[in-house]
Order: sequence, then structure tokens, then C-alpha cells
Amino acid sequence: MVAATQKPGGLKKVLGPFDLVLMGIGAIVGTGIFVLTGTGAVTAGPALTLSFIIAAIACGFAALCYAEFASSVPVAGSIYTYSYFTLGELVAWMIGWDLLLEYGLATSAVAVGWSGYFQSLLKGIGIVLPEALRAAPGAQPGVNTLFNLPAFLIMMCLTFLLSLGVRESARLNNIMVIIKTGVVILFIVVGVSYVKPDNWQPFMPFGAGSVLSAAALVFFAFIGFDAVTSAAEEVKNPARDLPIGIIGSLAVCTVLYVAVAAIMTGIVPYMQFEGVDHPVSLALQVAGQDWVAGFVDLAAILGMSTVILVMAYGQTRILFAMSRDGLLPAKLSEVHPKYGTPYFGTWMVGIIFGLIAALVPLGVLAELVNIGTLAAFSLVSVAVIILRKKRPDLPRAFRCPGVPVIPALAIIFCLVLMSFLSWHTWVAFGIWIAIGLAVYFLYARQRSLLNKQ
Ligand code: ALA
Repeated sequence: MVAATQKPGGLKKVLGPFDLVLMGIGAIVGTGIFVLTGTGAVTAGPALTLSFIIAAIACGFAALCYAEFASSVPVAGSIYTYSYFTLGELVAWMIGWDLLLEYGLATSAVAVGWSGYFQSLLKGIGIVLPEALRAAPGAQPGVNTLFNLPAFLIMMCLTFLLSLGVRESARLNNIMVIIKTGVVILFIVVGVSYVKPDNWQPFMPFGAGSVLSAAALVFFAFIGFDAVTSAAEEVKNPARDLPIGIIGSLAVCTVLYVAVAAIMTGIVPYMQFEGVDHPVSLALQVAGQDWVAGFVDLAAILGMSTVILVMAYGQTRILFAMSRDGLLPAKLSEVHPKYGTPYFGTWMVGIIFGLIAALVPLGVLAELVNIGTLAAFSLVSVAVIILRKKRPDLPRAFRCPGVPVIPALAIIFCLVLMSFLSWHTWVAFGIWIAIGLAVYFLYARQRSLLNKQ
């Protein structure tokens, strides 16, 4: 255990509860609401609002479990570290490995969403990229795309910011979050008067199954609140601030999403969202509010930038903790003497997932992110139940209410949503887990500092 509790060599404690709520919103509001709501509306019709509520309930239960974990072991590395302390190395490794999939591919997926909005903005001023540089190979049927250049470049820019230090990144994040939530609220205020209640009929055109399918998809829109826990070591008062950060940001986003989904499907008949990659601004254009639609486009670009920033941040901190514990090469936990950041890990993550963003289509990425996250949420919920029995002595500044019922509900919700994902995604996920186990038994176990002691 000493390995995980030792001072890491200088991450600075600079973050307060307000920073954390903003950091959570920064990680949450992005491609899910700005891009995937279109597909969600086509899948479930106006009942998309119910899909958001179902996904939010699943996240809410998991968030309570997360918060209990987060407030009991305040060191860097997200739930990876908490499970290292409490459930042993193998479980911790698997959770960490799972989170690498979640955070890493989420940054790539959001960079692809960002690129779509960015290119549409460029088009508005008459600039069109060469065909080959617009998207990943095979992303657009019938078009010879090879490399998503904007997605790669945005990843590089944000990696540069992160490598300069958390204070600068958090400040920038705060400004962007205020802009994007402001614009979402503007959408709600402007859009509500254009709603035609007739568009909400039939409310559930494709039945209850379609509502769950859409929930499994738009679940992506809630991913990110757990990134807050990755910052534990840089938080001034983690026991109090982390639960506030997680639950606060999740609650704010749920209210915003349900309102946006209701208004969108109230303005535009849901069938018209087929193939639309800017559904929120489309609703405003239909309402004749072109200037607000322009604002929404710009805010979507800013909003997605903050998502990438916070996800990439979480990713580097998990790598940092796994490396500090000896499970991954030591280079990944080397802290820059001037900026106080794990700069090598930051750049490594940025380049790898920047290339993935450039080369893999959005649909494939989003499903993989969802399965990785749902699996991690289930594991956390199981862990909360086990820990209450195994380590009742562990100080918990925040206690999940209703254990074991709430964690059990979290597990059920997550498994149901997972069952609505495609079999390709399940196969890819199985391969990722198999690689993880191989790396653990062939590399990490022998080098683990915990094992050596
Ligand atoms: N929740 C994040 C988004 O929707 C991942 O972009």
C-alpha cells in the first residue's frame, strides 16, 4: 500500500468545489447533447426525454457509489486508486484498464464530433478541406476520406494546454463551461416558445425497446462526471468537495438535457433529425432563429473542447497512478519540474488518442466508450457492497445511502443498457479485457511496487 500513498512528487493542490462542479460539467456536456441527440430522437421519437431520464438514473446510482469511493481515498487516479487500496491489485488493474478505454476513446470520439461542427463552421465562411483530410477511412460512405485532420489538431492543441499545468487548464475550462451552459440555457429560453405540442405525438412511436436503445446511446452524454474523481490529489478538501463535484455536475446536466430533448423534439418532427450532425442548432434554424443557431454552433465547438480537455486530464492521472504503483513504466509518472504535470504521459496520451480520432469513425468509438464506462460503473457498484462488508472501518466522508439496494440498482441499470449495445462492441470489449489481463500477468505483476513489498 505504501506505493500508492507515497507523495507523488509534487502535484499542486489548487482545486475547490466550484472548480470541480465546473470540471464535471466541462467533461459532461459535449458530443452527447450536441450530436447524438439527433440519432437518439430518430431512434426513440419524443420519448428521447425518457431515454435521458433512464440514463441519468443509471448514472445517478453509480455516482452515489463513486462519491463514496472518492471521499474515502483522496489520492490521484480515479476509482483505479480507490480499488487498489481496498480490493487489491488485480481488480484495480482491471478497473484502471477499463477506464483507459473510457477516457481515451471518449477524447477521440469527442474530437471527431468537434471536427464535424468545426468543418461546418469553416464551410459557412467558404473554406472546405480536401476530401481525404475530412474524416477517418470509411466514415462517409462513397467518399475517399483518409485522415480526420481537424480532430487530430484539436487533440494536439489541448494536449499542449494540459502539459502546461492544471491551474491554467482549469481556468480555461471554467470560462468555456460558462459559455456552453449559457448557450444551452439560451436554447431552452428561446426554443420553448416555438414548441408545437403536436410534434410530441405519438410520444413513443417505436415502443419501449427503442427508448432503452436510445438510452444506451445517449448514456454517452452523461459520461465524464467521474473524471472529477481523478483530480482528488489536486483538490484542497477532497472529502467534502468530491461528492459535491460529482453529484452537483450530474444534476445540473440532467435538467439541461431533458429540457433540450423536449424542446428539440417539440420544435422539429423527430423524423427530420435523420442524418443530422447538428440537431440542436437545426431546431433553432427551423424556428427561424439563425443568430442563436450560430451561437449554438460556436458553443458546441467550445463545449466539446472542454470535454476533451477534462477527459484527457483524467486519462493522464490514471496513467500517473498506475505508473507510480509500478504497473506501467515509471516514465509515465515523471512530473515536470516547472509545470508540475506528468508531461510525458500527457503527450503520449494526446498523440495516441489523437491518431485514433483521426483514423476511427465516431459510431464505433461511441459504442466502445459506453461499454467500457458501463462495465466500470458496474464494478464500482459491486465494490461498494463488498467494501462495506470487508472494510467497515474505512473512514467514508460520504456514504452512499441504501446499500446494498442502490448499488444493486446501479448494476442492474448498467447491465440492461449494456445489453442494448451491438455484438461488435462486445467482441472488441472482450479483446481489450484479454489484452489487459495479458499485460498484467506478463508485465505489471512482476514490477508492481505493492507485490515487491
Ligand atoms: N459526455 C461527454 C459528451 O457528451 C462525453 O461529449
